Amino acid sequence: MKLPHVFLALLCFLVACTVVVILTLQNRQTVEYGERMAVKAWKSNEYTSTLEVEYWNGTGEQQLGTDEKEVDKGIWPYFGADLPTNRSKLQICTKSVQHFVFINIHKTGSTTLCVMLYRFGYVHGLNFVLPQARTPDNMGWPHYLRAQDYLPLKGGYHFDVLVDHTVYHRRIIDNLMPADTAYIAMLRYPLHHLESVFSSYKVPRQLKLDTKNPLEAFLRNPETYHRKDYIRTKLSSGQKPYSLTRNFMAYDLGYPSGLAEDMEMAQAYVKRLDRELDLVLILEYLDESLILLKRTMCWSIRDILYDTFNTAMRYRYAMDLTPEMDLNYKQWSKVDYLLYDHFNNTLWKKISQEGDDFRQEVANFVSVNSRVKSFCKKKNKDDHIVIPASKWNAEELTVNQTFCHLLKTARMFFYKAILERQSSKQL
Ligand SMILES: *[C@@H]1O[C@H](CO)[C@@H](O)[C@H](O)[C@H]1NC(C)=O
Ligand SMILES: *[C@@H]1O[C@H](CO)[C@@H](O)[C@H](O)[C@H]1NC(C)=O
Ligand SMILES: *[C@@H]1O[C@H](CO)[C@@H](O)[C@H](O)[C@H]1NC(C)=O
Ligand SMILES: *[C@@H]1O[C@H](CO)[C@@H](O)[C@H](O)[C@H]1NC(C)=O
Repeated sequence: MKLPHVFLALLCFLVACTVVVILTLQNRQTVEYGERMAVKAWKSNEYTSTLEVEYWNGTGEQQLGTDEKEVDKGIWPYFGADLPTNRSKLQICTKSVQHFVFINIHKTGSTTLCVMLYRFGYVHGLNFVLPQARTPDNMGWPHYLRAQDYLPLKGGYHFDVLVDHTVYHRRIIDNLMPADTAYIAMLRYPLHHLESVFSSYKVPRQLKLDTKNPLEAFLRNPETYHRKDYIRTKLSSGQKPYSLTRNFMAYDLGYPSGLAEDMEMAQAYVKRLDRELDLVLILEYLDESLILLKRTMCWSIRDILYDTFNTAMRYRYAMDLTPEMDLNYKQWSKVDYLLYDHFNNTLWKKISQEGDDFRQEVANFVSVNSRVKSFCKKKNKDDHIVIPASKWNAEELTVNQTFCHLLKTARMFFYKAILERQSSKQL
């Protein structure tokens, strides 16, 4: 080899090294920047200030405004003052609850629940906080609800229901809703949740995980891939405040992604949610959750029937789950596991406080639901079935094709129908 060649090779090697070093540093900076921004946005209360709340003043008072700074002194700078600790939760069934907020957490089965709640509101003629027509399935997510994200009502009307995607922020939503509003949410086992996120948002492709089992590869080294996640979005549409692959459920519930390692904050946050939410459903125990929902809201069996929950969705990638993957994800997405474990325990505690007939009611519901489902598969227009009244449904239930149709109606239809119905009440 002649001298110039050696020199040239050396030069190329140096240039390559420099590029690698620069890219690595940039990765790190991007991640840190993203996390810093998320915490900063959280602490600076950026989005509340843009919300106008004159549309609902059911208490006769302006609830946000001049005393904003006063209120914001709590340990939760973002949330401001704590709710009264004696806020009574819905426990004793008196009359059907028709004011409710469903915190719609991505990929927890919440789309199906959302449709069920749309159906309830549609059938009962309730007023929805509806997303604007240009974003019909999103109310400000991944940010908090702002005035421009929903269709306001004229004075004299108030909202009853909010079920579409927005990041949970109690004080903003409280300002729109009547004081006796029930708050519900739904969670899913974090590893199952991640599997669903991987599949729905094509995460393996985004993160270039060209392996046989992308989930396993990701979980062996989440930090590395997580960085790619941040970089990708920096190039497209600015820094996003959430990570698909880390505490994504907690994000929708209002916990900032930048506090992923702060377990003290996370625990305080979970405690707070426990006080604020009336019921958290768990997808793994769907039928039990729905019976609790029925009892909490004083609803009827008709209200909680469903056609399919999209749990059996076929995944695009091979992702056999192993205990090791679960352990790795638990290390990485600690806040989501904390949330899940807490609310799963709460669910079972609530179930144990219900009467002995809880199990029987669940079994009865499962059998009625499957009867209705198989009836609805048939196409005979005049046909109907009657579910006799029982201990758990005071009135007998007639199911005909009209009801079947409702059961299979997609969210977009309800959205459009309610939009039309509400249009005379809108500003
Ligand atoms: C709601 O606000 C309007 C305008 O500020 C006011 O005129 C009205 O009296 C308020 N309603 C109640 C119930 O206080
Ligand atoms: C909660 O406590 C406050 C002050 O102690 C009291 O004024 C209010 O009536 C209580 N609310 C309920 C629902 O018990
Ligand atoms: C949910 O909680 C129950 C009761 O504490 C427990 O037996 C069950 O294993 C938990 N489920 C999951 C998926 O963690
Ligand atoms: C189904 O029942 C409802 C009342 O429960 C009725 O209004 C509707 O017309 C019925 N539909 C059919 C197709 O018979």
